[in-house]
Amino acid sequence: MKRPGSDSRRCYYDHERAWVRIAKRGGAGWDDLSPPASDDTRYADFATFRDSDVFLALQKSVSGRSCTALDLGCGGGQIALQLAGVGWEVIGVEYSATAVSLAERNARESGIVADFRQGDCLQLDECIGRDQFFDLVVDNRLMHCIVGQEDRECVAKSAAGRCEPGGILFSTSMTSDLTFDYDRYGVDRNTMIDRFATRQLAPSSQLEGLWSRVGLHLLRSWISFPKESGAPADWCGVFRRG
Ligand SMILES: C[S@@+](CC[C@H](N)C(=O)[O-])C[C@H]1O[C@@H](n2cnc3c(N)ncnc32)[C@H](O)[C@@H]1O
Repeated sequence: MKRPGSDSRRCYYDHERAWVRIAKRGGAGWDDLSPPASDDTRYADFATFRDSDVFLALQKSVSGRSCTALDLGCGGGQIALQLAGVGWEVIGVEYSATAVSLAERNARESGIVADFRQGDCLQLDECIGRDQFFDLVVDNRLMHCIVGQEDRECVAKSAAGRCEPGGILFSTSMTSDLTFDYDRYGVDRNTMIDRFATRQLAPSSQLEGLWSRVGLHLLRSWISFPKESGAPADWCGVFRRG
């Protein structure tokens, strides 16, 4: 897959243009690109995880220091700020410079402190060093932006490697489990990659396999049905590092 910066053509994780559009129209996060019908659906899957016994037990198990989280492909920082708002120390890594600026602005406006860094989740060592580990690693819709098996495995391996032993990884991605309007989403039915090569959908079994192969143990998973007709469903998984 093409890497950014090599020329001006759209490359598979060039989200910068979309973020510039979001910023121009006064948006604060990724959902403002094509806002969902109802605000209730924004970050609903992460909210389900935050309300779960696994999350509560994780918070309880950490004593004498703040809980720590790494939010991968953090966009406008909505998840990072939710966690930082309840006392977590959070680093958000995001490829788009515009998204990082929005995340910083969102933090300032809400009076919450989180550490947002521009970087590539394929090269985490470059932006967070080699020796930082986290109680929670979040992939809120990053993985479906990573195209090609080699890069997907690279992201999975580095994300899992950043979980403390006993730490948790929450992941959610669009899945190909249920049929959707392939033409509207410009997705090739064989490769499940979209026409711009910026999205790759996968069956939930493949997503679970991807995370399990990098040493994570699946605690639970669910499918979140699309709120909009013709849209793909989302797979969500909660894993523990052994
Ligand atoms: C679908 S958006 C989700 C944003 C955010 N997690 C949220 O839930 O609002 C995916 C984000 O991942 C970022 N991204 C894509 N590839 C990336 C990479 N290799 N490294 C870091 N960020 C990346 C994009 O710029 C985009 O902001």
